[in-house]
Amino acid sequence: MDKESIVKLDKDYIAQFYGRMELAPISGKNATVVNADGREYVDFTSGIGVNSLGIADEGWINAVTDQLKKIQHISNYYYSEQTGLLAEKLVKASGMKRAFFCNSGAEANEGAIKTARKYSFDKYGEGRNRIICLTNSFHGRTLTTLAATGQDVFHQFFFPFTEGFDFVPINDIEALNNAINSSVCAIMCEPIQGESGVNPLSPEYAKEIKKLCSENDLLLIFDEVQTGIGRTGRMFAFQHLDVTPDICSLAKGLGGGLPVGAVLLGERCECTLAPGQHGTTFGGNPAVAAGANAVMERVAEPEFLKSVLDKGEYIRAAVSSWGLDTVVEVRGAGLMVGVQVRCSHKEVAKKCLENGLMILTAGKDVVRMLPPLTINYDEIDRGLEILHGVLRSM
Ligand SMILES: Cc1ncc(COP(=O)(O)O)c(C=O)c1O
Repeated sequence: MDKESIVKLDKDYIAQFYGRMELAPISGKNATVVNADGREYVDFTSGIGVNSLGIADEGWINAVTDQLKKIQHISNYYYSEQTGLLAEKLVKASGMKRAFFCNSGAEANEGAIKTARKYSFDKYGEGRNRIICLTNSFHGRTLTTLAATGQDVFHQFFFPFTEGFDFVPINDIEALNNAINSSVCAIMCEPIQGESGVNPLSPEYAKEIKKLCSENDLLLIFDEVQTGIGRTGRMFAFQHLDVTPDICSLAKGLGGGLPVGAVLLGERCECTLAPGQHGTTFGGNPAVAAGANAVMERVAEPEFLKSVLDKGEYIRAAVSSWGLDTVVEVRGAGLMVGVQVRCSHKEVAKKCLENGLMILTAGKDVVRMLPPLTINYDEIDRGLEILHGVLRSM
């Protein structure tokens, strides 16, 4: 099908709430995407941090298709080898105790919130259910995760939202201290805020959160939907901070392109949810778990994580070395890179696409890169050359 026909189908039949870019990818390899008109693009997006091993990775395809040939789905009424193996890998890599699965980041956060509230209910009864979140956070699109998201723009139209979320500014220890009271059960945040502009927690702040959680018997929830599974050059971003949460939500890069989310549970809450209190039809089914196992095996290799750190440093150093007035700051960790710009970030992304580079935006003024973790230096250089040209022209 040519690009125009694909676009027409979308415009005629799909609910129009995405501002789509002018591209209809039909195939690709690693960080190179082929458009329906045959033109190639460098991919600095990986489907918003999802295609960890790039496009059409053979190991990943084999893992998924081998499993598909055996059994594609069976429901959580039964045991599944791939799902169990995935839980084992996640638990061992994180130092946490148990995992449960779902299908997306928002759903993982719903599971995390339910766990935190149930933990508190079991110990303290009703009324201790508030969760402190950060201003400018992003936790998903369900009613509850929108309510947990610290951006007013998401708190419109769909009333009533789930109650019980308070917001404090990132890295402000005093504000956090002041927000804690007897109705709070948890603190929830992203180690690096992704959607609002690649804003990291400071290590001191992360340690203070952990301390306050221990002192007040609050659960610490890290939303690692975007930062997890090697994205920042460690398996989990919390490993940079040396702070292990009680609950960690995952999705995006875990599945390598298939929809899977996970919630990791620490010692305090590993048994909080009892039979019948949570569940899912699809979550962590054998096929997606097989793909996620292939991702975990690759990412866990020390050389792999080191290469993510090296490539991230290379990109940040390159952008900084251009010395452009348009660039305010370059930040991030590993292959989660934010370039704060003085010009319109949306215009930068649009022009990059016209010139053959897929790139993301975040927040009000950040151009964001989340390339496949397997991107090679040739692809990086081709992408950076396009970005440089665009930024220089702005
Ligand atoms: C930190 C974070 N949490 C949650 C979500 C929601 O994930 P999903 O779109 O898979 O529901 C996202 C998506 O961008 C995210 O970046």
